[in-house]
Amino acid sequence: MTPEQVDLVLEGIERMRPRLSQVADAFYAELFDRHPDLRPMFPADLTRQRAKFASELHALVVALPDLPAFLDSAARLGNRHAGYGVRVAHYNQVRTVLIATIAAEMGPAWTEQHEHAWTVAYDMITEAMLLNRR
Ligand code: HEM
Repeated sequence: MTPEQVDLVLEGIERMRPRLSQVADAFYAELFDRHPDLRPMFPADLTRQRAKFASELHALVVALPDLPAFLDSAARLGNRHAGYGVRVAHYNQVRTVLIATIAAEMGPAWTEQHEHAWTVAYDMITEAMLLNRR
């Protein structure tokens, strides 16, 4: 990731921060709409899941400039996800929906550069989550 891409993503997550739980809500609604087969992997009540997802996404993005810390927390999150039955193909399904949700949230401020920066950031998160799979 370039420093400019890191800045764009950091700026975006801070801008969305007050609304992150609504963003997570929109994300899961869209995810299960497009991929109903994923719904049974998650608890029936998504209240805690939405909050955890939003705060973890924020923490990972904020950790991006500190690579060792980022890799460590992403790898631990990834190991837990292997235990939830999450496979490589799922990460691609989630990427499309997450980026579309963030784009909708950012509205007219969203540019091609944002799209690219968030895609690279998501791919870094995914790669790091898939490291050292146990
Ligand atoms: C940016 C990538 C992702 C982030 C930040 C993220 C974050 C989280 C967090 C924070 C939790 C709560 C439990 C824990 O901390 O271990 C969780 C649980 C879970 N996530 Fe993710 N996740 C990501 C990608 C995915 C993907 C690609 C899938 C595939 C469908 C997925 C499916 C699940 C499932 C099934 C649970 C467990 C629900 C339960 O049984 O309580 N996640 N995720």
